[in-house]
Amino acid sequence: MTTMNKSLIHLLLVCCGTGCVANGAREVYQALKDNLTSDDKAVLAATTSARATGCHGLCAQGPFVRILPEDITYCRVKAADIPEIVEKTLKQGEVVKRLLFRDRQKKTLVQGQNDIPFYQRQTRVALRNVGLIDPSSLQDYLERGGYRTLEKSLLDMRPEQVIEEIIKSGLRGRGGGGFPTGLKWKACAATPAQPRYIICNGDEGDPGAFMDESIMEGDPHSVLEGMIIAAYAVGASNGFIYVRDEYAQSVASLRKAIEEAENHGFLGENILGSALSFNIEIVRGGGAFVCGEETALIASIEGNVGEPRDKYVFPSEKGLWGQPTIINNVETWANIPVIMERGASWFTSLGTEGSKGTKVFSLVGKVANTGLVEVPMGTTLREIIFDIGGGVPKGRSFKAVQTGGPSGGCIPSELLDLKVDFDSLSQAGSMMGSGGLIVMDDRTCMVEVVRYYLSFLAGESCGKCVPCREGIKCLLEILTRICHGQGEIGDIALLEDIAETMQQASLCALGRTASNPVLSTLRYFREEYLEHIEGQRCPAGICRELSEFWIDPVICTGCGLCLPRCPVEGIKGEKKQAHWIESDKCIRCGECIDSCSFQAIKVK
Ligand SMILES: Cc1cc2nc3c(=O)[nH]c(=O)nc-3n(C[C@H](O)[C@H](O)[C@H](O)COP(=O)(O)O)c2cc1C
Ligand code: SF4
Ligand code: SF4
Ligand code: FES
Repeated sequence: MTTMNKSLIHLLLVCCGTGCVANGAREVYQALKDNLTSDDKAVLAATTSARATGCHGLCAQGPFVRILPEDITYCRVKAADIPEIVEKTLKQGEVVKRLLFRDRQKKTLVQGQNDIPFYQRQTRVALRNVGLIDPSSLQDYLERGGYRTLEKSLLDMRPEQVIEEIIKSGLRGRGGGGFPTGLKWKACAATPAQPRYIICNGDEGDPGAFMDESIMEGDPHSVLEGMIIAAYAVGASNGFIYVRDEYAQSVASLRKAIEEAENHGFLGENILGSALSFNIEIVRGGGAFVCGEETALIASIEGNVGEPRDKYVFPSEKGLWGQPTIINNVETWANIPVIMERGASWFTSLGTEGSKGTKVFSLVGKVANTGLVEVPMGTTLREIIFDIGGGVPKGRSFKAVQTGGPSGGCIPSELLDLKVDFDSLSQAGSMMGSGGLIVMDDRTCMVEVVRYYLSFLAGESCGKCVPCREGIKCLLEILTRICHGQGEIGDIALLEDIAETMQQASLCALGRTASNPVLSTLRYFREEYLEHIEGQRCPAGICRELSEFWIDPVICTGCGLCLPRCPVEGIKGEKKQAHWIESDKCIRCGECIDSCSFQAIKVK
């Protein structure tokens, strides 16, 4: 473990992403500023500066204070820890061990962020600046090479060359559909109508996802730079960033970035002295999941109801106000400057045959290290969930991972070695979506999970087309019956029939993909449906009507931990003697199961 070199200039990076702010990061940052300026002013002010940055990724361990150049990373920091950090680390050059990351598997303390296993297998391309720069500082972005490729593109390249480079890079849209970005731009540039528009889709409606939020908050200029390069490539005059309404910090960060970019000639008239004039404005989202669908989003910007339309003509030809429009996802935009800087061949060296580059995922659910993860396309699910995510906590086992958001699919443990890319996920009956990865353990009932996703989607269908509006409702009704122990054997065929009709006949991808959770679980967890219907049993012990709990007297140590967790005092037993459950009292809430570290409580 290295100690601090007191003669160096130190940079303190305080994570002020939304997750850490909720855990007191702003107070940590303020305490740091106060300590740096009031105490030993001359010495510390000359040798140290602090930056409030975007998300560092490992949100479960935040707030973070990272000290460079030594790379000392303190986790779960509170404002009250700051005087000790200043006194011991900054003044005396000592590391405060109690604030270091604990590697529970190796039972060691880890000092540097780059040595924490969570970060070691990641490749940060779209997230290259997030966590390192102060998003409100244009200067920080410029110091990391920002706007250099805009200058190169505007002054040294023709628009067709820019488009050609993006086509060569193989970049596919990161918002879900995976459409080749360069081809979209080419189609827009080839459409004669003027004016043309650029849109950034920052709606991010998937529950639990925060990839785009972290980029908009933590590195807003990279999104702007990508959009300005595209404006030059296709000859657009105006841009819009459609931001999910709940993302107040993203809006603030983007607003400041737009203002700074305008003040420094990166936006506005004759950008960097060129013939390009381009402006960007922010539009707050309509608050509906379906508004993330590009045609619904366009309708919403136009001031109409956010409903999708049929795409027999793509937005690249007829989009916003009927004009040629490019719409790309936040992460797609953040990739553009770095592709233009490092070249298409560098980008194609990352990833797989059909999916180039990296992908950002938000890894959540029953996994030890929840957070933001960026890996080359083609990394396996096992590497993401176990090597980076640290596996399933509390001694439970992995059951499935949901990829692609609420209308993605559930992938079982047999496919943990599946490479994560657009095509492999589709072949497995799921999809990339925008990058949500929700890990489920053996205490998850797959039928109930699917019922949950369908109930979310039932509230989000815009109701315009019958297969989606009625189909989701029917699927939900059947799934609810099955979870309540009223399923019939014909239900499985009925589910499949409705699901397939929805795939074929729905107007937009919401309806076409809404049945993915049903079909993927019927493919991989069919037995579990049959257990519910024929066996009248929920193997995970989640569906109340179908679960009965008992304590295995051979395993039970009589520790008594489960007793206070039972809300109806349904568990009995003496200390150090096997306990039992009074089945007439038990309400099957499952609270006791999670409290038992010996896994003595079983489901019949
Ligand atoms: C119901 C639904 C919701 C969507 N939500 C989003 C979203 O929140 N963000 C996003 O970028 N794309 C979303 N999409 C995909 C967009 O329609 C579109 O494909 C994407 O913005 C194009 O950008 P890309 O090519 O960079 O991925 C959604 C699609 C559907 C069907
Ligand atoms: S399932 Fe709930 S009600 Fe039943 S014994 Fe356990 S804690 Fe008590
Ligand atoms: S927590 Fe588990 S081991 Fe402890 S008394 Fe309850 S069932 Fe027995
Ligand atoms: S918000 Fe701080 S690590 Fe994610």
